[in-house]
Amino acid sequence: MNTKTLVQLDKAHVWHPFTQMRDWIAPEHQPLVLVAGHGAWLEDSFGRRYLDANSSIWTNIHGHGHPILDQAVREQLEHVAHTSFLGFTNPKAVELAARLVELLPGSSLTKVFFSDDGSTAIEVAIKMTVQFFQQTERPRKMGFVSFENAYHGDTLGASSLGGISLFHDRFKSHQFPVLRIGSVESLATVDGSEIAGLIVEPLMQGAAGMRLWPLSAAKALRRWCDQNEVLLIFDEVMTGFGRTGKYFACQQDHVYPDFLALAKGLTGGYLPLAATLTTEKVFSGFLGSYEKAFFYGHSYCGNQLGCAAALANLAVFEQERVLQKLQPKIEHLARRLHGLQDLANVREIRRAGFIAGVEIASQNGEPFDWRDRIGAQICLAARRHGILTRPIGDVLVLMLPLCVSCEEIDLAIHAMGKAIIEVCAPID
Ligand SMILES: Cc1ncc(COP(=O)(O)O)c(C=O)c1O
Repeated sequence: MNTKTLVQLDKAHVWHPFTQMRDWIAPEHQPLVLVAGHGAWLEDSFGRRYLDANSSIWTNIHGHGHPILDQAVREQLEHVAHTSFLGFTNPKAVELAARLVELLPGSSLTKVFFSDDGSTAIEVAIKMTVQFFQQTERPRKMGFVSFENAYHGDTLGASSLGGISLFHDRFKSHQFPVLRIGSVESLATVDGSEIAGLIVEPLMQGAAGMRLWPLSAAKALRRWCDQNEVLLIFDEVMTGFGRTGKYFACQQDHVYPDFLALAKGLTGGYLPLAATLTTEKVFSGFLGSYEKAFFYGHSYCGNQLGCAAALANLAVFEQERVLQKLQPKIEHLARRLHGLQDLANVREIRRAGFIAGVEIASQNGEPFDWRDRIGAQICLAARRHGILTRPIGDVLVLMLPLCVSCEEIDLAIHAMGKAIIEVCAPID
């Protein structure tokens, strides 16, 4: 099919996520049709190339079409793509579970539950938390604490824990009640006796606009949870797999949760797969008579193709010494971002390792009117300069695949800077 037909059919039949479809189907909107990817670059149906500056919605790690990942998926296809994980097991899922546990020495995270994506990884943690306390004689412990501006996914359970009003508020009547707090300090006034779980995106809240936690926040949360017998859930759907400079954000200050939710980068950005890691203590709360089982699962739990891709993803980390090579790139990125700070419309730049958010505002520091969607306009302009990314309101996301070179970092920063000037200068 040619591009024109594809776009026509798309506009006729496809409903896109997080998209105002009135704008999408408007005659003047020409959606990009992405057809190929090589390394950190994507190619559209006209053969134009773009740097994948948000890692294909925060998923891609080692680039597109990586030979080791491609080969692993092909090899797995020689055997089988998918088999049920309910009542059976399979080699790739077993190996992957063992490998993930191996990556977290010093933690008590030894049990792995597979599911499909970030949201389901969180659902698993929610339901395990509730059931754990029911089965360990503390059924009144069933409340959850989460943070304002948090984002944990869009399924109803995960979104109950979320705190972004645009996404979550309209479903309030259908969500379970959650105690939402604004800061770690405010925990001091929380009565933990009926709280079962506390969830946080460690180090940085992603969808909130790349907001950093104060240093030692994780330690304080761990302490409060221990004092109040509350299970601590780390949502590392965004921060996992090297983005912050370590495999996992929890390894930055060696504070480990009772649940670790992983997805996005788990398969290097190849296939949907998630894992919720937990402890022997939680696991043992489910042992006993039949009805104590964790009655939860999805058709594609433990998908063999996904697990093969995930194992290859981890193999590349080791073989290519990805984390070691990332350190100088993180420093380079920090320096180049510093240069962007001089632009009059850059209000603040926030960064954790290789994840960055560039907040823009009018030159007097006032936020732009959100209805003008300046962030989106800048990303559109940046596309003309060869990079693809998606903003969070007026925060421009820069989350490059870990495989990029310093030259590619330069290109991304240069494109972003030009786009900011082009869009903002005529307004201010
Ligand atoms: C921190 C965090 N948790 C959960 C999710 C949900 O993941 P998914 O979109 O794979 O359901 C996201 C997605 O952006 C996320 O950033």
